[in-house]
This record gives sequence, C-alpha cells and structure tokens, in this order.
Amino acid sequence: MSWAIILHGGAKEIDPEDVDAHRVGCLRALEAGRRVLAGDGSAVDAVEAAIRVLEADPTFNAGFGSALNADGAVEMCASIMEGSGFNVGGVAVIRGVQHPISVARALLFKEEILLAGDGARRFAAENDCELCHFAALVPRSTGRKPVHLHDTVGCVALDSAGRMAVGTSAGGLDGAATGRVGDSPMPGCGFYVDDTVGGVAFSGDGEQIARRMLAAGVLHRMPNASPDAALQSALHDVARIGGSAGGIVLTPAGAFGWQHNSRDFAVAYQSSRMAEPACFANKAQAGH
Ligand code: GLY
Repeated sequence: MSWAIILHGGAKEIDPEDVDAHRVGCLRALEAGRRVLAGDGSAVDAVEAAIRVLEADPTFNAGFGSALNADGAVEMCASIMEGSGFNVGGVAVIRGVQHPISVARALLFKEEILLAGDGARRFAAENDCELCHFAALVPRSTGRKPVHLHDTVGCVALDSAGRMAVGTSAGGLDGAATGRVGDSPMPGCGFYVDDTVGGVAFSGDGEQIARRMLAAGVLHRMPNASPDAALQSALHDVARIGGSAGGIVLTPAGAFGWQHNSRDFAVAYQSSRMAEPACFANKAQAGH
C-alpha cells in the first residue's frame, strides 16, 4: 500500500515577504508527517506530527501564531479524526497549551468528542500534554509579529495500511468575542474523514463554513465527483453566503485536491509515488 499526505497553512492573504516563511513552514510540517508515514506509522500520528510543527511556527494562526480575541487573550481550537471507527477528539476555546492538536489527540479514543475552556485545559494537564503560561502565546510577550486575520491549519493523511486521518488547528480571529468557536472543532464543518470516501479539511470564515457544513458537503459529493470538483461546489456554497475559504482533500486511492476562493492558500503534499514534495502559496502559483 502507498501513503500520502496533504496540508495547508490557512486560507488568507499572504504578504509577499511572508511567502517564503509559509513555504518553509509547510514543507517542514510535511516532512514531519512524511517521516511517520514512510516508517509505516499511522495516519493519526502523521497528522499530529505535521500539525505540531505548524503550531510551533508563528507564521501560522495556530498555537504560537494565534490571534488575540477581544480581551487580548489567545483561545484556540483543534480537532483530529480517524476514518476507520469515526473517532473524533476536539478542543475549543482552550488556553495555555502549547499544542492543542495533541490535546485533541489525547481525547481521540475517549467517549467525549469535544472539550472546551477550563475543562479542556484540565484534561490536557491530566493527560501530560504540554502546558504553558497563558501569556506565552500572546505575541507582544514574545516580541513576535502579531497576526491579522490569519487562519486555521489542516492536514489529511493516508497511511500504508489504508487508514486515513484529518486534523485542524486554529488560533481564533483578531478581536473575536471571548468564547467564540469556529468551524475547526466541528465535525462535518471544518473537517471530516471516512476511509472509504476520503478526508477533507477547511480553513476560512468559520461561521460561514459551519452554516454550510462544508466538509460534510464535500464527502457527500465525492463518490460522484473528483476531489477538486467537490471542493469547488463547496466553495460555491460558501461564497453564496459571503464566505471565503480554502479546502484540501485526499482520497483512499491517494488522489489530492485543493481549492480556495481566498486570495492565497499555502499547501504542501507528497505521496509515496512522488520523489519530491509539491508546495504552492496559491493556485495561480501552481499554474492552474
Ligand atoms: N476557520 C477557523 C475559524 O473561523 O475559527
């Protein structure tokens, strides 16, 4: 069996001087996931490994690159799902953890599928996830550049045993209401995976993505449509209500799809059939 992995760094506008940072960050994350898959590791492990790299990189709005809400605080969301038993682990409005995706991973095979706020942080502490001071994630306390309207990261992987997984991690929106939850931890909205159909992860205007249940829409279309056609239809749905988004898809056969109606959408992907990874800042750069 072959393996494949695709990830994105957010549906947004990338300043020209930041394109290289996006490319380097996406490729580093892809390499972390690729290493797991090439060593016969699981799709779940590959997704977690890749997203941890994106969360550690302030280029991306997740983990250490998160936005500040209306109270000047960082509240993050993340989810991970596997497509064999439809297990889901998610966290919402979690503060003071270094890697929300690893907290979501710790929840993956529990009965609960989503923990929020203080309960999510307590769960992180009880499960040996890396905690940090709330202020450690705030840009002005670290001297790094604050983010503006950057968005979610995501990853879909297929392992050599034919298992699939998807993950998302989001650092919120600048000035968002405290306690706001976007699409990223909602199954069927920001993500979904079914080993027999494929996996999908979205980024963009979370409320609009959730209103149109974009991930569910893509998987419902996929048996009769190519990954790119299914994504295009979903983007059409979200655009009709004023939403901007980008999505990635991977099929059980290892076919990739990625589409966006945001200006930019950095993606990277590789399969066991490709000698080198592919990486682009947007479709225009990919020549589509
Ligand atoms: N798409 C991420 C969010 O809206 O929070």
